[in-house]
Amino acid sequence: MLAHPAVRFATLADAADIAELSRDAIEYGLPWSWTVGRVRHAIEAPDTNVVVVDGPGRLDALGIMAYPGEDAHLLLFAVRAAGRRRGIGSAMLAWLEAVARAAGASRIRVEARRDNAAARSFYNEHGYQELVILPRHYSGVADGVRLEKWLRPRNSGAANSGE
Ligand SMILES: CC(C)(COP(=O)(O)OP(=O)(O)OC[C@H]1O[C@@H](n2cnc3c(N)ncnc32)[C@H](O)[C@@H]1OP(=O)(O)O)[C@@H](O)C(=O)NCCC(=O)NCCS
Repeated sequence: MLAHPAVRFATLADAADIAELSRDAIEYGLPWSWTVGRVRHAIEAPDTNVVVVDGPGRLDALGIMAYPGEDAHLLLFAVRAAGRRRGIGSAMLAWLEAVARAAGASRIRVEARRDNAAARSFYNEHGYQELVILPRHYSGVADGVRLEKWLRPRNSGAANSGE
């Protein structure tokens, strides 16, 4: 296992590699929605973090987290097949969770394909609870499952304010 793969913010020069990795690792069998243009937009968006882990000659991993409000939403997350089960995903998730905590997010939400046993196991391993099955969530074709992880106790706001 890699101890500390370096996570960095993506630049516009990474957009094509990110889009390609999304198509191959996440969106296989579905219409390609995370195209280069959409990834570029995410990189430039003020409420979104796009991060990557570099591999030899190309990206090993990508993660896109949005902060639309109090909740953070993990929009896209993948490790290239050849790099899996070496701790890269865990390191990148920990990095994104730390940023979400620092940004004041209460919880992180994420969806995965229902038949994606690896992702469901990975998120469960990291404290994400499965909430609901989402029938035909992906392009009307594939079922999804929504998961969430609370970053602080649900009533901590009231407790801290003395209510
Ligand atoms: C899910 C994914 C991100 C995990 O990345 P990774 O770098 O391989 O994960 P890690 O090495 O940090 O694994 C941490 C733990 O998660 C669990 N896990 C990861 N992959 C697993 C698998 N294929 N089967 C069962 N458990 C798995 C294990 O508990 C693992 O610990 P272990 O290796 O000590 O047993 C990767 O498999 C992937 O990119 N899949 C394709 C895209 C995807 O599904 N993205 C997420 C949904 S959008």
